[in-house]
Amino acid sequence: MKRPIAELIGTGRYLPDKVLSNADLEKMVDTSDQWILDRTGIRERRVASAEETLACMGKVACEQALESAGVDVADVDVLLTATASPDRLLPSQACDIQATLGAVNAAAFDVIAACSGFIYGLTVAEGMVSSGQAKNILVVGAERLTAITNYKDRATCILLGDGVGATLVRPARNGTRGILSSYLKTDGRLANLLYRPGGGSVHPPSEEMLADGSYFLTMAGRETFKHAVRSMSDACDQAMARAGLSGDDIDLLIPHQANLRIIEATAKHMGMPLDKVYVNIDRYGNTSAASIPIALDECVREGRVTEGTTILMVAFGGGLTWGAVVVRW
Ligand code: ACO
Repeated sequence: MKRPIAELIGTGRYLPDKVLSNADLEKMVDTSDQWILDRTGIRERRVASAEETLACMGKVACEQALESAGVDVADVDVLLTATASPDRLLPSQACDIQATLGAVNAAAFDVIAACSGFIYGLTVAEGMVSSGQAKNILVVGAERLTAITNYKDRATCILLGDGVGATLVRPARNGTRGILSSYLKTDGRLANLLYRPGGGSVHPPSEEMLADGSYFLTMAGRETFKHAVRSMSDACDQAMARAGLSGDDIDLLIPHQANLRIIEATAKHMGMPLDKVYVNIDRYGNTSAASIPIALDECVREGRVTEGTTILMVAFGGGLTWGAVVVRW
């Protein structure tokens, strides 16, 4: 097993108070609580208010992460945000979180890999630590997906929710704790399975776009589902092989929360009993890049993650992108 270079320490999260339940969605589109629960495992999701920008929610999650890590905000040298639903298209979301947080000594930038963004971000952070570029890196997964959700499209609007999670990455203090391996993969040929057709420089905002809703997130659900099951399993296998570990060595699987059936299929592939798998999709739906750091924070605060816990985190998302990280806490 390779010696860890970087470790995760300190976590935080912010979830808006406003709940959008399946019963609420029944009044908005042709769906039912039973269908949503059976097909996705989701009961409710959170919706940010106008004041709950990612800059504001990110500040709270980062402050919690710094407090639990015992690190001063002035010592943060990189702030890295993974998001697919930034407050604005320019500058990066990380710049706006840096400003609200007051992390004045940090370089701030975004990593764009949709729902896999947090895994990509952790991997970038590990690289920056190992090259000596940075010592205290905040990795933030932040989403306000309800702002880019089409509430006329029943196949996507039932899935998505808002929230932010954060963790601090820094040089590993001893030979056992930290990131043991990571694996990233992308297949850009599948980009149009899950994307936003309009609003970029090829199709800039227009009146037609407002009318046809093409600036909203669009997804081929069934196809995406098939790739998700395959890619989550691939990512787990590759990251485990790179860490030199087998399924029995993993204490906790924290999968991206996209669909309970995808999570169960991944656990089955890994031969892991469901009591070793963290699930909160019933409460938050799919919060894309924020889902894993939110879940990690819950696990740490609930005592499911303690010193020595070996965690496999795995995600897939638009791109298509996928990846996994093995961490010993
Ligand atoms: N309520 C009731 N019926 C529905 C709903 C709904 N909300 N949505 C779709 N249906 C219908 C369809 O119209 C279809 O009807 P038909 O057979 O008459 O044509 C039927 O249900 C089956 O549709 P499928 O798309 O095959 O349903 P499936 O079981 O695949 O579930 C779902 C759909 C939940 C979207 C699933 O495909 C899925 O979870 N896919 C992956 C989603 C995902 O993880 N995306 C990536 C993350 S999102 C992001 O990156 C931000």
